Amino acid sequence: MLVHTIAEVREKVKEWKKQGLTIGLVPTMGALHSGHLSLIKKSVEKCDKTVVSVFVNPIQFCPGEDLDKYPRTLEADEQLCNGAGVDIVFAPSPAEMYPDAQMLSNDFLTYIIPPFFYVNKLCGKSRVGHFDGVCTVVNKLFNIVQPDYAFFGEKDRQQLIILRKMVKDLNIPVEIIPCPIVREESGLALSSRNKYLSENDKINALALSKILFNIKACYNNGITDVDALTETAYSYLNTCHNLEYLEFRDADNLEEKQTADNNTVVFIALKIGNVRLIDNIALS
Ligand code: PAF
Repeated sequence: MLVHTIAEVREKVKEWKKQGLTIGLVPTMGALHSGHLSLIKKSVEKCDKTVVSVFVNPIQFCPGEDLDKYPRTLEADEQLCNGAGVDIVFAPSPAEMYPDAQMLSNDFLTYIIPPFFYVNKLCGKSRVGHFDGVCTVVNKLFNIVQPDYAFFGEKDRQQLIILRKMVKDLNIPVEIIPCPIVREESGLALSSRNKYLSENDKINALALSKILFNIKACYNNGITDVDALTETAYSYLNTCHNLEYLEFRDADNLEEKQTADNNTVVFIALKIGNVRLIDNIALS
């Protein structure tokens, strides 16, 4: 069932809660692929009712980013959700979510601001304000859908860690369920932004997963020095790659690691042309 208004979702949620049913929420920006489908499947399995939100959230895009050209494929998304047993596809307009016309100004919207320590690194460094937008919209979705469980992919692991912190700090009554990264057979992590890649870009994009898999193999062979592990990455990079970061961080609080251990996650971001790709791997 495709729903565009908050009022319609609230009405359904009220009915479900009265019947004592559990609700799962899968927040997305649409352009759904098998990665999203794995989150949806988990929710459908675990919960009595599943809501998938499809909303390209303007306030999490920074100036100059791809808000206007971000892929929008609602019809296909709805079909995929229907086939997967989703109960509601919630696809609000920006005006429904942010009724004040001045929505893009900090002065006219109440924001959730995650702690600086969590956002002043990795993607937060180049995407200033991005996680404020993510936390704000996810908090709104939690208030609208009132889910028991919310499903997020480990592909956006910094986002996942920040949202977990938000839920804990604000005592939001929802359990966050992390879902593993889904990869193409080649190793490339699935992402809606892969649609921007040419065939040649896709070959170059394999550097991300190759670097991560190689680092994990070296770690499994006993190398724990982060400088030595970082060094192994360079042979996979060529002039097409613009490396933004390759960092070793704590899986719970994103603190930097000098020595890798089982609670370390390796994060990578690089640009191929104008397309920015991210990936990560847990060393445990
Ligand atoms: O991961 C995403 O697709 C988005 O950041 C989210 C969580 C749906 C919020 O807009």
